[in-house]
Amino acid sequence: MDLISIRDLNKETVGEILDLANDVADGKKKPDLKGKIIATLFFEPSTRTKLSFQSAAMRTGMSDLDFLADLSSLKKGESFADTIKTVEGYADILVVRHKKEGSARLAADMSEKPVVNGGDGGNQHPTQTLIDLFSIRRMKGKIGELNVTLMGDLKHARTMRSLLYGLSMFGANVTLISPKGLEMDPEYIKEVEEKFKVKVKTKNEPEFRDADVLYVCRIQAERFADPYEAQSVMKKFRLMKSDLEGTKKELIILHPLPKINEIDAEIDKMPQAKYFEQAHYGVPLRIAVIDYVLRK
Ligand code: CP
Repeated sequence: MDLISIRDLNKETVGEILDLANDVADGKKKPDLKGKIIATLFFEPSTRTKLSFQSAAMRTGMSDLDFLADLSSLKKGESFADTIKTVEGYADILVVRHKKEGSARLAADMSEKPVVNGGDGGNQHPTQTLIDLFSIRRMKGKIGELNVTLMGDLKHARTMRSLLYGLSMFGANVTLISPKGLEMDPEYIKEVEEKFKVKVKTKNEPEFRDADVLYVCRIQAERFADPYEAQSVMKKFRLMKSDLEGTKKELIILHPLPKINEIDAEIDKMPQAKYFEQAHYGVPLRIAVIDYVLRK
């Protein structure tokens, strides 16, 4: 199977992957994938997604083909399609990140081997969503019925669209907070409300006193036509320590990372800040994803 969008999974299959990741994280299971080869094809920069897939592969005995776009024949003008059609012959599973929306689906259509989407433009990042759901379930014991606030540039952040879908699948109460003009596309909100019978709240002011989980994402400056506008929004929309006064004692703060300056550095030291733990869960979760995809 391919994993291109969180829509490729239902609640049962997500549960199966999260359960396996939990057993891997607890040392109860360790898939043996010795002899298999993963190809990590990142046409866009990445730290966490690429390295945690590579770490996951190494921990299960796999070998990694690390495609370096800047040193590849792309520089001679080779196409994305020809690159995928070539590399599928060298590996058992391909992880693809590309700035163009729909690129991972295109790769999956061309490849006989399973393709996992490592992020396609502003569209989808399904394994990040699985890490987010895994982190919430592990830290809070459940996902459904929690009050989860997603805050930041909800127009451009692919992680937030996928996450809204995943949270709604499990019946969380989601509130979306974004600066004016950076709201999530209402079509996505309508889709999850109709499909999962949930009500999504939207706000333009940072107010999250009832939140159990506050999920912050950065202003995606690289996706703005005007860089000055991005800088101006980044200055105005920051989470400060003082904003956490009056919030729930057990609140957890998550972030897909990288963070730039949208969270005050003081917050990193607070017990509520769980984003590095969340990033570390990328390894057990991606071990579970690779194992699941190769078995299906
Ligand atoms: N969260 C995430 O996708 O990080 P990278 O861009 O570093 O892979």
